Amino acid sequence: MAARPSLRTLLLGAALALSAASALAEGPGRAAIATPHPEATAAAREILQQGGNAFDAAIAVSAALAVVEPYGSGLGGGGFFLLRQPGDPVAYQFIDARERAPGKATWDMYLKDGKVQPGISINGPLAAAIPGLPAALADLAAHYGKLPLRSSLAPAIRLANQGFAVDRVYRDRAQMRLSALRDDAESARLFLKDGEVPALGAQIRQPELAVTLQRLADSGRDGFYKGPTAQALVDGVQAAGGLWTLDDLADYHTAHRQPLRYALADQRELISAPPPSAGGVALAQSLAMLQRLPWQSAEPVQRSHYVLEVLRRAYRDRGLLGDPDHVSNPIPQLLDRNYLVGLANSIDVHQATPSSSLPPSPAWREGDHTTHFALIDADGNAVAATLSVNLPFGAAFTTPGTGVVLNNEMDDFAADPHGSNSYGLAGSQANAVAAGKRPLSSMTPSFIESPQQFTAFGTPGGSRIPSMVLLSMMEYLNGQPVATWPAVPRYHHQYLPDVVEHEPGTFTDAQKRDLQARGYTLKDLGRSYGNQQVLFWNKAARTLEAASDPRGLGVSEVLETR
Ligand code: DON
Repeated sequence: MAARPSLRTLLLGAALALSAASALAEGPGRAAIATPHPEATAAAREILQQGGNAFDAAIAVSAALAVVEPYGSGLGGGGFFLLRQPGDPVAYQFIDARERAPGKATWDMYLKDGKVQPGISINGPLAAAIPGLPAALADLAAHYGKLPLRSSLAPAIRLANQGFAVDRVYRDRAQMRLSALRDDAESARLFLKDGEVPALGAQIRQPELAVTLQRLADSGRDGFYKGPTAQALVDGVQAAGGLWTLDDLADYHTAHRQPLRYALADQRELISAPPPSAGGVALAQSLAMLQRLPWQSAEPVQRSHYVLEVLRRAYRDRGLLGDPDHVSNPIPQLLDRNYLVGLANSIDVHQATPSSSLPPSPAWREGDHTTHFALIDADGNAVAATLSVNLPFGAAFTTPGTGVVLNNEMDDFAADPHGSNSYGLAGSQANAVAAGKRPLSSMTPSFIESPQQFTAFGTPGGSRIPSMVLLSMMEYLNGQPVATWPAVPRYHHQYLPDVVEHEPGTFTDAQKRDLQARGYTLKDLGRSYGNQQVLFWNKAARTLEAASDPRGLGVSEVLETR
């Protein structure tokens, strides 16, 4: 005979149920880190073990990456931080630390006789917009962190002084930008050895960058945007023909924006990057269209077909977007359910839709290097951040005395606001250069959260960022283990050019023939791309996992911090 539960058992059961409910609302009890570099992961670990929260650790990681990945991001660049704070309801914030065009920038600054002069928006100080990362680090410390900025910056200052060992990724990026680095004496002195790419294991020391970081540590944002660092930046830029002024630096501010939020099936919600990123909109549109299509039960080529058609349609709309402080973005229209159902219904089940048969989209171009990391602490504070100087080593221009490599994010604007013949006009205008404006970005730090689960995604990779994040999210939504999310083979479509770009091993020969028969033009990029860092907190199962892209040097770990 079954024993009747005693009052004590009932009370214990109720207490357990209560604690399970509150466990769902609180943090994972441990921390997880996923960054693209072992030194950055070590910096996060150090700060978390000192009692810092995920936001303090994000400062430490960003600053460490500025030292060990001078090609990817840094104090001379910018980026986006997507934040999560536990509570009821959970709060999300988006720190827009995108660079801003200097006050003297004009819509036609890269045009001569009506033609784009690409070189000057890529190399040298005319390519550089006013940096945002130092302001973001000061904001994070002031409004979200528990430790003083100087504590969180300490690991990076130490690394800059002591030096770090050149790795294979550094060599690869320096090789890509070798001639531009050689052309700038300060960059060559700091990042090359006798004008050549340094050997594996060679030490790169950056004492000037350590001083610049120390001023930020001592004086907060004024330590970078005013005083001797600001003066050295402006002097260096102006001496080389650039447009920056002291006012441009003093006026720089981050923007705290509402993240882009979109409800998905199964009580899940996408939380992602709003404009000036085009990524969150593209991701929301793509996921909404996929929800109308049987991709989960489709065989691999059929699934790729759905993804390619969804991406084609989402990327077409990118041309409508620009800096929300300068243009009005039609977000409600782009995320309207009926509109997205219509787009999904326009997908032929078997055949590719030529992009030329869809209405055209404006011109836009992308760069080719950046960085991304993700963190969650024991309390459930979380960060996904994508940071950039745009191309590897940005503008390949280092202002003397500062150690700061300037970005070439000005190249993310549409250099020719009137577009070329094959592209439309509206998007070019939305993303034309203007004083103080932020260039449109593809960076897409993102979460998907439900009452049971929290996940974080993101990667560098220019225009391919949203498609990479989408492919990883599909692995998650399809119940695949966390290690496969960043590892999944990549392919991409961005409406124009009307080609399917892919990594070398993505498709078998038979799958390629099948895709070609459906009307796709395939382009094997001959190399892998992206460097995704992901987190998975299964609140219901009380598990916490992190994974780094196997293509990079990244190190992810879960650690006890209390
Ligand atoms: O903001 C953007 O979209 C670009 N500047 C990002 C560049 C990038 O991700 C390059 N990565 N490999």
